[in-house]
Amino acid sequence: MDIREAYLNFFASKGHEIIPSAPLVPNDATLLFTNAGMVPFKSIFTGEVPRPTPPIRTSCQTCIRAGGKHNDLDNVGYTARHHTFFEMLGNFSFGEYFKKDAIAYAWEFVTQVLKLPKDRLYVTVHESDDEAFALWEQHIAKERIYRFGDHDNFWQMGDTGPCGPCSEIFYDQGGEHFNTPEDYMGGDGDRFLEIWNLVFMQYERSSDGKLTPLPKPSIDTGMGLERVTAIMEGKFSNYDSSLFMPLINEVA
Ligand code: SER
Repeated sequence: MDIREAYLNFFASKGHEIIPSAPLVPNDATLLFTNAGMVPFKSIFTGEVPRPTPPIRTSCQTCIRAGGKHNDLDNVGYTARHHTFFEMLGNFSFGEYFKKDAIAYAWEFVTQVLKLPKDRLYVTVHESDDEAFALWEQHIAKERIYRFGDHDNFWQMGDTGPCGPCSEIFYDQGGEHFNTPEDYMGGDGDRFLEIWNLVFMQYERSSDGKLTPLPKPSIDTGMGLERVTAIMEGKFSNYDSSLFMPLINEVA
């Protein structure tokens, strides 16, 4: 399966416009690199530029996380899942749909298009987000829904900018393959792999730390192409997948 194409086509079938990946150096003085799929759409979330028609988009965005707020540099080489450069699949709603549809779309894609087994999936919500918890309960047993605090379940693009509580989907790669003390839900190990983050964009943070509500509650999601590709190919390290092995073999 071509995962990029399957993702973009799935969201196009739900009315989203497919947008090409934007440059890695954004037109944004607060960021050195594009660090997430939502970066090119920042000014639409904040209401600085008018909502496009349709107000829902999907993309596969190249990202760099080697500095600033989202810096994965120190994890590279220590985990099987971190990169400084990667591709993020995302769907975005600028005040059109919110938590209910974002959750339903993600669940449909993961279980019906990727066909990942439900007994391997877990989700997390922000500890205060009873609404997201209740929406997830329509899809998955409540024992598989975890609540975490700001550190894990509140996302913001940088020190300033759009932000909000988030909900993540995890895939259990199996205790038979990963059994370090960090291999528990919420731990730093590779066993429970976060594959998709759904951000419920509700605020804009200003430089004094203040949160101002966005003009309309919005959605920003990000699914890691390298992680999902490794899972779909039955590999336990991103580096063993077909995204990396041709490059590694060529260098070897
Ligand atoms: N912006 C969020 C993230 O990077 C979801 O796309 O995780």
